[in-house]
Amino acid sequence: MKVFNNISLKKYNTFGIDVTARELVIIDTEQELKTTLTQNNDNLFILGGGSNMLLTKNLETKVLQINLKGIEITKEDDDFVWLKVQAGEVWHELVLWCLDHNYGGIENLSLIPGNVGTSPIQNIGAYGVELKDVFYQCEAIHSNSGVKRIFSKSECNFGYRESIFKNTEKGNYVICNVTLKLTKTNHTLHTGYGAIQTELEQKGINTPSIKDVSNAIIAIRKSKLPDPAEIGNSGSFFKNPVVNKKVFEEFFDKFPEAPFYKVTENSFKIPAGWLIEQAGFKGKRFGDAGIHKNQALVLVNYGNASGSEIWNLALKIKETVYQQFGITIDPEVNIV
Ligand code: EPU
Repeated sequence: MKVFNNISLKKYNTFGIDVTARELVIIDTEQELKTTLTQNNDNLFILGGGSNMLLTKNLETKVLQINLKGIEITKEDDDFVWLKVQAGEVWHELVLWCLDHNYGGIENLSLIPGNVGTSPIQNIGAYGVELKDVFYQCEAIHSNSGVKRIFSKSECNFGYRESIFKNTEKGNYVICNVTLKLTKTNHTLHTGYGAIQTELEQKGINTPSIKDVSNAIIAIRKSKLPDPAEIGNSGSFFKNPVVNKKVFEEFFDKFPEAPFYKVTENSFKIPAGWLIEQAGFKGKRFGDAGIHKNQALVLVNYGNASGSEIWNLALKIKETVYQQFGITIDPEVNIV
């Protein structure tokens, strides 16, 4: 355990927002986590990889950074392996480790920023795969009692960028490890989404391996999404809105050129990136806050933007999109 007082969190959040934590505690073991949780009944703030949050103010509460490390095989048979991964492992490093061991299932989730412990909270997803597709269970410690509980996949109530940890159990648990069920052989490849197939064809790959799929996704993401190490960002800032049939039909009458995905008979997902681009924001910069030039869903910090500047820009985008399209877009990132 390491403790820092009055420390800047700039390097602890991928948006690169310079706020100060009164006390930052780096947690290296589960026991330290239990003890710290039970000794501090007041508000604690839990930081994982800091990749899905916008910090808009200094934090007066104790901030815990979950730095539990380790990858362990808990079970395997001829076809599958069950990997228990500690919360502080970096997600993309886990993806690379799995590729090295030829374990399949998370290659489409290559290069997603953040740590393993936060991956279930918003059910991370990209290119036709979501965490829930490989999730087996996770262990989490109750914030007040320090008691450990196992959450099965069904208990997590996963949805599009949703889980129980963002809803009824919000703030009640700290996830300490996640178990994934991955394939050892006969990998199921998901290459149908967007540009993956084209990317593979361009490289002349007809029977791709999971490593090929990962490389294709890395290339696509690098061409569209800014690297947080270079330009502060939190990936998609907004969720793609899901609207009912009536709202969708009114929208589609006016904007027949808009892309959309049919989710169910009565619900349709409209890409927020398209709405924001049409509203004229793509590539715009206001001081150090801006909208990425290649992907309008991503808000960026060019250096010294404050969290409030980014948030005010987000509110302006939300309002303009509503006025122009009658559709409400909501943030995917947590606003702190
Ligand atoms: N689009 C635009 N302009 C833009 C961006 C997108 O017109 O600036 C249009 C595209 O042309 C396409 C549609 O919107 O027709 C969808 O775009 P894309 O396939 O790039 O995906 P997305 O809906 O913008 C989602 C995830 C991303 C994930 C990609 C690929 C959300 C909120 N975002 O973006 O996730 O990488 O699909 O699967 O669901 C993240 O969560 O941080 C993230 C990057």
